[in-house]
Amino acid sequence: MPLVRSILPFLVLPAALGQFASQLPLDDLRQDGGKVVNEELSSYVQNVLDANNFTGLSLGIVLPNGEVEYAAWGNRTEEGDPIDQETVMNLGSCSKAFLSASLGILIQDFADGKNKSALPNTVAEFNWDTKIRDLLPDEWLTEDQWTTEKASLKDLLSHQTGLPAHDKSYSAYDSPQDVVLQMRHLRAAYELRERYEYNNQMYITGAYVISKYSGSSYRDFVEERILLPLRMTSSTLYPNRAFESGRFSQSWTRSRRRIPFFMPEHTADLIAGAGGVMSTVEDMVQWVKLLLNSGVDAQTNNTIIPRTTFDLATSAISVSTAEGDNLTSIAGYGLGWGRYTYRGHEIFQHNGGAPGVATIVDLYPHDGYGLIMLANTAGPRVTRQIADALADRFLGLPPAGQKVRVESPVDDRTEPQRQTPAAPALPLDTSAFAIADLTGTYASIGGYGNFTLCSPVPPTSPDCLAPVQAFRTVDAAAGTPTDHTDLYAVWPRFWASHIRFSWVSGSDSEYDYSYSAEITNLYVEGYGADRTPFEDVSEVIPVRFAVEKGKVVGLGLSAALKPSWRAKKGGSLREIADVWFDKL
Ligand SMILES: *[C@@H]1O[C@H](CO)[C@@H](O)[C@H](O)[C@H]1NC(C)=O
Ligand SMILES: *[C@@H]1O[C@H](CO)[C@@H](O)[C@H](O)[C@H]1NC(C)=O
Ligand SMILES: *[C@@H]1O[C@H](CO)[C@@H](O)[C@H](O)[C@H]1NC(C)=O
Ligand SMILES: *[C@@H]1O[C@H](CO)[C@@H](O)[C@H](O)[C@H]1NC(C)=O
Ligand SMILES: *[C@@H]1O[C@H](CO)[C@@H](O)[C@H](O)[C@H]1NC(C)=O
Ligand SMILES: *[C@@H]1O[C@H](CO)[C@@H](O)[C@H](O)[C@H]1NC(C)=O
Repeated sequence: MPLVRSILPFLVLPAALGQFASQLPLDDLRQDGGKVVNEELSSYVQNVLDANNFTGLSLGIVLPNGEVEYAAWGNRTEEGDPIDQETVMNLGSCSKAFLSASLGILIQDFADGKNKSALPNTVAEFNWDTKIRDLLPDEWLTEDQWTTEKASLKDLLSHQTGLPAHDKSYSAYDSPQDVVLQMRHLRAAYELRERYEYNNQMYITGAYVISKYSGSSYRDFVEERILLPLRMTSSTLYPNRAFESGRFSQSWTRSRRRIPFFMPEHTADLIAGAGGVMSTVEDMVQWVKLLLNSGVDAQTNNTIIPRTTFDLATSAISVSTAEGDNLTSIAGYGLGWGRYTYRGHEIFQHNGGAPGVATIVDLYPHDGYGLIMLANTAGPRVTRQIADALADRFLGLPPAGQKVRVESPVDDRTEPQRQTPAAPALPLDTSAFAIADLTGTYASIGGYGNFTLCSPVPPTSPDCLAPVQAFRTVDAAAGTPTDHTDLYAVWPRFWASHIRFSWVSGSDSEYDYSYSAEITNLYVEGYGADRTPFEDVSEVIPVRFAVEKGKVVGLGLSAALKPSWRAKKGGSLREIADVWFDKL
């Protein structure tokens, strides 16, 4: 999710990749019987997948003449069943475009008098500029009064509410309404519309609006209004139905370990708007054809996505990447779609990422090509390098960078420089504090809840026996010696089960021990056929402990990718952290 930083739960990543290789002669698709994926490209894809430990990938390409080409590599089960165009997979954040389409349909229903419920009388006009506050008068509240009053549906889905990704603030047992209600406790990083910052919780909020005013659940709304009319009969927002199909892919980590599906049925309602659609490449061809035809189903002439919504959703509302390079332009973000040019060709696109999920939908509206890629292993840069190589071929461009690149399994954009402690055994006794001063319970308000930090160094309190044992088990299996400066906690989040703090540097100022926190899932009994213990880190974020008057008083977690208004203003860690926990 975690779309993806990480596996940034669900990120969009108009990645600028690679460099122009030797100028191979332009090869004409027609010379290969019209096939985009010729033998050479197929083995290139295989090499990229192998180098990056991807288990399986399914591809569909819609050609300008309406014909479709499928290809697939690898497996969908650990028994070795091959993946194909009928394999069901989660779309990750490529689900977000289904939410913007759905909100557009709901708006149209009201305009056409086909509404099944009444809006509150706070709503004068229902359109993309309608304020969330008017739609959710009793629920929508953020720390910033201006944002609370002025944020519109358009701001919500174009990632410019000023709230950074607080993806650790919800657990698997929260409802969409819980996420909306917890928003008031979350710290904003920027002002409304100051900058783009990806936020899944706003898509959870958007789905909540639909469930509140459509007379049906969000999941049913998407199925009835989009999937069914588009004949996407293998697609669903209900994980149990995907499992029952017998064609649902299993999921893997980048070290080739099988992991459970990240979104079990009881959590699917929560994540539905941000990343909840399951589909096949074959079904997604219908969706891509619809989009290449501006929202009208060419088979029936039915408008599925109202035109105003389609145009807005695929336009640049916010700026997601302010700098281009020699392959890609700057990138804008609409409503569940990114827009930029790749080597001069305009593209509407979205990526999806979650544990065991990497997906892409790329549309070249002026060239008539569409591409769907569904993989059962996380790694957005891996699928992106393949998608761009495919585009080079169907756009008739000299290959830009058909080198096989190995991409890091964990996105490290926010990882602080990790330093090796001078004396690995018990190094902190040389500084003012012992590691024991950092252990204990930390409490936050809102969804972040509480966790108890444990040290692997005895004596171990009763509460700490289980987590210490769990970390020792996965470390031993990985052959990693216990790092005595690590701190562990059980922290049941949607995206993780535990958190591991690794020491970065000691106290060099008023506050701070700097740590990096790995948001991680521990599988002490393995998973699938392989019962050996392992760990799957989904994200690494910076942490600092605050020391006041010689006492550790709390810790701050980072959430924003750029310095927040608080950080710019300055102050104590308690004042400037994106997320603050008091030490109890
Ligand atoms: C494009 O940019 C990359 C990275 O900055 C560079 O190595 C490469 O030479 C550039 N290619 C061209 C054709 O300018
Ligand atoms: C797919 O399954 C086959 C048969 O079990 C196996 O030989 C192959 O290594 C598997 N490939 C991947 C990428 O896991
Ligand atoms: C929606 O429908 C209800 C009853 O069917 C009606 O009272 C209401 O005014 C309609 N429109 C809006 C904008 O709520
Ligand atoms: C692939 O998986 C193996 C373990 O199965 C691991 O040692 C290796 O580092 C992984 N490679 C990548 C690129 O992730
Ligand atoms: C769709 O509309 C076009 C143009 O109006 C018409 O030529 C075509 O027959 C229609 N197709 C269907 C399936 O109704
Ligand atoms: C966290 O700790 C505080 C202080 O002890 C307590 O009031 C609160 O209920 C706890 N929250 C949770 C989610 O356990």
